[in-house]
Amino acid sequence: MIPVLERTMVAPNIHNLRLQAPDVARSAKPGQFVILQAEEDGERIPLTISDWDAEKGDITVVFMQVGATTGKLALLKAGDSIPTAAGPLGNPMELGNFGTVICVGGCYGIASIYPIARALKEMNNRVICVVEARSSFLFYWQEKLRKTSDEMIFITRDGSLGRRGHINNLGSIIPSIKGGVDRVIINGCNYVMMRGCEETRPLGIKTIVSLNTLMIDGTGMCGVCRVTVNGSNKFACVDGPHFDGHEVNWDELSSRRQAYLREETVTLRTSAP
Ligand code: FES
Repeated sequence: MIPVLERTMVAPNIHNLRLQAPDVARSAKPGQFVILQAEEDGERIPLTISDWDAEKGDITVVFMQVGATTGKLALLKAGDSIPTAAGPLGNPMELGNFGTVICVGGCYGIASIYPIARALKEMNNRVICVVEARSSFLFYWQEKLRKTSDEMIFITRDGSLGRRGHINNLGSIIPSIKGGVDRVIINGCNYVMMRGCEETRPLGIKTIVSLNTLMIDGTGMCGVCRVTVNGSNKFACVDGPHFDGHEVNWDELSSRRQAYLREETVTLRTSAP
């Protein structure tokens, strides 16, 4: 069993879960994920490892409470345990000295962009973090991100902090950055990543996304996480989760994400307290 060290709500519906998982913490790299189960025989869900401490042996994942499993995870407290935290899985994010990199995070992607921004900063990139949310009260981990970036840009739909609008602001933010932008990395829901890629495509800037797919085993065996990238079948768990966002078939990804919507709705109704 995997001990729960802490579970806190960092913004409405967004939860920070810290687990004692020394084997995962020892080998985690930016961009990798774990597959969690909230209970034996429960659904298996992939969550990005957003922070870890190899010495203390703990890992942190941040998730949005949207369904039955995340609803159960959201009720955990220190001292509880969960049966599974398998990982680290997936390929680490490609890192290097690219120059100026914009790291975009939306929703739970604000946390998952953090280890990537930190690693890029350590490699002497100029890191600009762009975080977006409906309103300023939905931001979290701002101090952590500030420490790992040269600049932070906020986008809110209600204009309560930073620029008013949505991820489509990216198309106007990028040309305003002196010296240009060499790479964009976007983490968040699939819609935010898709819209972000629409903004960077005409600018010709390489844009890496971290795909959110359904997963079961996370080891390339079940095929549930299949996506089409550049016309080829890929498994997000072993070939990704990071891909060139300009090559992803977003329509297919979106429809495959809906495959179990009816079952998810039934489970959510029947598991409600
Ligand atoms: Fe089963 Fe990727 S989760 S193949």
